[in-house]
Amino acid sequence: MKNSHLIITIDGPAAAGKGTLSRRLAERYGLRHLDTGLTYRATAKALLDRGLPLDDEDLAVEVALNLDLSGLDRSVLAQHGVGEAASTVAVMPKVRRALVEAQRAFAKRPPGTVLDGRDIGTVVCPDARVKFYVTASPEIRAQRRYREIINQGGTAELPAILADLEKRDARDAGRADSPLRPADDAHMIDTSDQGIEEAFETAKSIIDAALAAD
Ligand code: CDP
Repeated sequence: MKNSHLIITIDGPAAAGKGTLSRRLAERYGLRHLDTGLTYRATAKALLDRGLPLDDEDLAVEVALNLDLSGLDRSVLAQHGVGEAASTVAVMPKVRRALVEAQRAFAKRPPGTVLDGRDIGTVVCPDARVKFYVTASPEIRAQRRYREIINQGGTAELPAILADLEKRDARDAGRADSPLRPADDAHMIDTSDQGIEEAFETAKSIIDAALAAD
């Protein structure tokens, strides 16, 4: 896809730094941003709020088909438990199909979009102009998630967060439909020992080089 409609994808495991990087890149290049994790979180939260089971695929699809992607708010969907529930809902192929269709429709609107998630470069937007896979060691990611929770006034225990993240990584990478993995043409960014500024600069120079080659 050419400059006129730029799509940038950012995949990777939980708490790797995808969200901040995506928002910064969207701002830098004047693009829209879609955090696709929120679509899975919103589906899961709607089921939880109504006391409905998380493993009824038809119910979950109905919720997914009625989501308004423009009204998703991470602060409402941030709870750790909602993330866990999201990864359970995300295993169901019909739910994925409904959400992927909505994500693609969002991505198509001008002037272009930065999307972050788990399967964006591989399944949602395989023709994206630039793809990244952002990762960090499980220990570093658990520490970041822990600090996020504490900063929001919550309580958490680091070993439990680490165990949850590892369980979620395994569920996301091990599922049959659209598992978490880098696209063959993704640029790898490891944020274990680089801050957001450094990751942003790395991503920016890769994007600028790609755009200059168009
Ligand atoms: O913020 P965090 O990395 O904890 O998770 P998230 O991006 O909000 O995603 C929550 C869950 O939704 C993930 O663990 C995945 O199971 C699922 N998800 C997915 O399957 N595909 C995506 N494109 C995005 C999220």
